[in-house]
Amino acid sequence: MERRKFLFWLGIGFSLNSFQMVLTACNSQQQDAETTTDKPSVDTSVREDGFQALAKVEEVDSKGFVLDKNSVSKTVMMYRHPDTKNISAVNPTCTHKGCTLDWQNNKNFSCSCHGSTFSADGEVTKGPAQKALEVFETKEEAGLVLVKVTG
Ligand code: FES
Repeated sequence: MERRKFLFWLGIGFSLNSFQMVLTACNSQQQDAETTTDKPSVDTSVREDGFQALAKVEEVDSKGFVLDKNSVSKTVMMYRHPDTKNISAVNPTCTHKGCTLDWQNNKNFSCSCHGSTFSADGEVTKGPAQKALEVFETKEEAGLVLVKVTG
């Protein structure tokens, strides 16, 4: 094969490979968007009794928790309480300096910023945070998680 032809086909090969990488990256971003909790899966309108549906029960049980940003004014994390087995909801904003907490192993919250931990009830179990998490009244109804977000 002539050198010029070889370089031509080598260039075509690189171009196709790059195109495939771009397609793969775009597809990956699309999948990430599908797993985010920013878009509501239910009607999140606030009801007359003050509750609003923020997730499906099956979502919480299949994912372990749902972090929702569609409530009236605050971020809400819903999870199944390891002791009561009811779905609970807290504001997962660390009371130390405001980082978003992680729900760890289906039993407690931890903050990756400075190491605070909180129980499933939202109580501080390790500082530097000193204030408990805000806990919201929560109930299950017709397969939905209803949360009364206060304030
Ligand atoms: Fe959470 Fe500091 S922000 S421990």
